[in-house]
Amino acid sequence: MEKQYKFEKNYSKSTPTHMLGEKSKIFGPIRDHMKYDFRNSYPAPELLPVSNILKSLEKELTIVGSSKNLYPDPQGYLPFRELISETLHLKRQMDISPENILLTDGSGQGIHLVAEALINPGDAVIVDDFVYGGTLWSLRRFHANIYGVSSDQNGMIPEKLQETIEKIHSNNQLCKLIYLIPTFQNPQGTTMNINRRKEILSIAQNSGIPIIEDDGVANMRYEGQHLPSIQSLDDTGITTFVGSYSKMVVPGFRLGYLVASDSILKIIEIIKGSRGVNKFSAFAVYRFAKDFLENHLKVLNFELKTRRNTMFEALENNFDKKYTSWSTPEGGLYTWLEVAPEIDLKKIQLQSEKLEVSYDLGTNFSPDGSEKNSCARLCFSGCSNEEIITGISILSNLIHKD
Ligand SMILES: Cc1ncc(COP(=O)(O)O)c(C=O)c1O
Repeated sequence: MEKQYKFEKNYSKSTPTHMLGEKSKIFGPIRDHMKYDFRNSYPAPELLPVSNILKSLEKELTIVGSSKNLYPDPQGYLPFRELISETLHLKRQMDISPENILLTDGSGQGIHLVAEALINPGDAVIVDDFVYGGTLWSLRRFHANIYGVSSDQNGMIPEKLQETIEKIHSNNQLCKLIYLIPTFQNPQGTTMNINRRKEILSIAQNSGIPIIEDDGVANMRYEGQHLPSIQSLDDTGITTFVGSYSKMVVPGFRLGYLVASDSILKIIEIIKGSRGVNKFSAFAVYRFAKDFLENHLKVLNFELKTRRNTMFEALENNFDKKYTSWSTPEGGLYTWLEVAPEIDLKKIQLQSEKLEVSYDLGTNFSPDGSEKNSCARLCFSGCSNEEIITGISILSNLIHKD
């Protein structure tokens, strides 16, 4: 008899065994950062406000007193939900009761919960033609048929969305969700203007297809004005909104939230169970958001803008525009590089990583998982200005040699 007990035969029918092959991609150890790290989309360690976070935790613990340090409220710390409601009103023109806000382990958990609530195997979900890999993971976990819709500089193209909905219907599939990142889309960096937001919402409402609006890194805006969210334009409750403090405070807390109408929130709360998010994280991030966040965002966004400008300048100075183009977002952590089809960024990646230059290939953002080797996301948030200049110069030499 084998010594080690094998659980495989006992897996329940609902376990996502089809994902086992994908596991190493997401659960592998976080890779050591390369010297010229254009791959990871979070702020450089020196931009994390660790000391003020510690002060915030201590202050909030002192205010609430030890008697309140019991298990967390399943929906999340109420003062925090009240603060989120006020902030969304100010910055996204949303009118939301704290009762319709659920704290989550990052916005990623919010997306996962909505997918779990709505998707049956084989249902269709619409996303951009390149999109955040964590969402693709959640959609694949629930066996969704994922359809990518192409975009222009204003994000998803309404006519293409309409065509895709018709195609899904002609395939006799039910379309359960449209997933959107309207501001500084990950990875393409595009932002939907207000008309585009209205057009897309109107198509979703007329077709009866719910939207997940992912606020992503919209608070890392360093040019232009904040735009109303799609949720704020929606008087039907078809839009569920997710937001996150991961990138603008500390990724390790992975604290986010979901804003949803009653008829979906009630089932999401049951799926999530009675386990509220870690209360110490909520205390620390809440107090930080109240006392320090506005000033922190000023510093962070100034730094990000400087690094973005350095990257744009380095791209301009090194890359031949006959073969390459890149997006020019007014905020966020990354730009989207596209190169002529004859240039193979997968092959170049093998060489660039030997020289300590990393980036994320288009394939990782591809809805159907097919190889997309003529585009890549370049994050400028994790490198110093000097590292950006040197890293882009190394990459350019490899690309133009190819
Ligand atoms: C667009 C987008 N949505 C959601 C997430 C998940 O963020 P969180 O850390 O809040 O789970 C990320 C993380 O990179 C992201 O880029």
